[in-house]
Amino acid sequence: MSTILYEDENHKCIKFEGLTAEGEIPSNQFLIVHNRRGLLLDCGGYRVYKTILGEMAHFLPAGSLDYIFLSHQDPDIGSGINLWLPICNAKILVSALWERFVPAFCVRGIAEGRLFPIPDQGVRFQLSDAPLMAIAAHFLHSPGNFHLYDPVAKILFTSDLGASVAAHKAVIDTDDDFRLHIENMRGFHNRYMPSNTACRNWAAMVRKLDVEMIVPQHGAHIVGKSLVETFYQWVETEKTALDDFGDELFQLPNEEVVTIL
Ligand SMILES: [Fe+2]
Ligand SMILES: [Fe+2]
Repeated sequence: MSTILYEDENHKCIKFEGLTAEGEIPSNQFLIVHNRRGLLLDCGGYRVYKTILGEMAHFLPAGSLDYIFLSHQDPDIGSGINLWLPICNAKILVSALWERFVPAFCVRGIAEGRLFPIPDQGVRFQLSDAPLMAIAAHFLHSPGNFHLYDPVAKILFTSDLGASVAAHKAVIDTDDDFRLHIENMRGFHNRYMPSNTACRNWAAMVRKLDVEMIVPQHGAHIVGKSLVETFYQWVETEKTALDDFGDELFQLPNEEVVTIL
């Protein structure tokens, strides 16, 4: 299913969702189109490739992709990259920390000359004449992690930050919704986000951006400036794995030897 997050005459942001089978992590993939050129954000794995390609055809031919942006290295983010590279000339943008790992998803040589390593500080670039920014989100959750900021749509795509796996609504746009939504985000955040220091530094940095929508790679998106601020405050204060649960996570296994069938 595709949802248009933003649209004007030259610019569109599209969310693809509901593509994974039961039992798999439900994830969102995104397409940004400007002046008929495209950026695919977190193209996803092998199993969603065909469906995205079909959905994408309503908006843009794959050959018009200039970029594939990988927010980090996880399989649900970019393990299908090997399928995308032969059908377009897109450059892959990924953290410099992961540049040498991405070819492990690919047949030999196919990614050669097509990787743009994003430096730790992030980078400003353009899709046709639309500005875009790779925003540092290190340790949220990957050591080399970038969010994508689209100043035209005023959307901050936050990768796994704000991820929810069982949202009660697809769009969170009221204070009451947000209160309920915290429970949907909490489990993932508590376990996958390692450091409150990273969360606080991130929030201080992104407050300098003009953001109307927070759009994570899993689950619902959060709409409206005041809820965006509420989200930042939640990120600043919510428990994280190593700061709050360190000891519990470092126990030796139980004595019992399990049989793996
Ligand atoms: Fe991830
Ligand atoms: Fe993810």
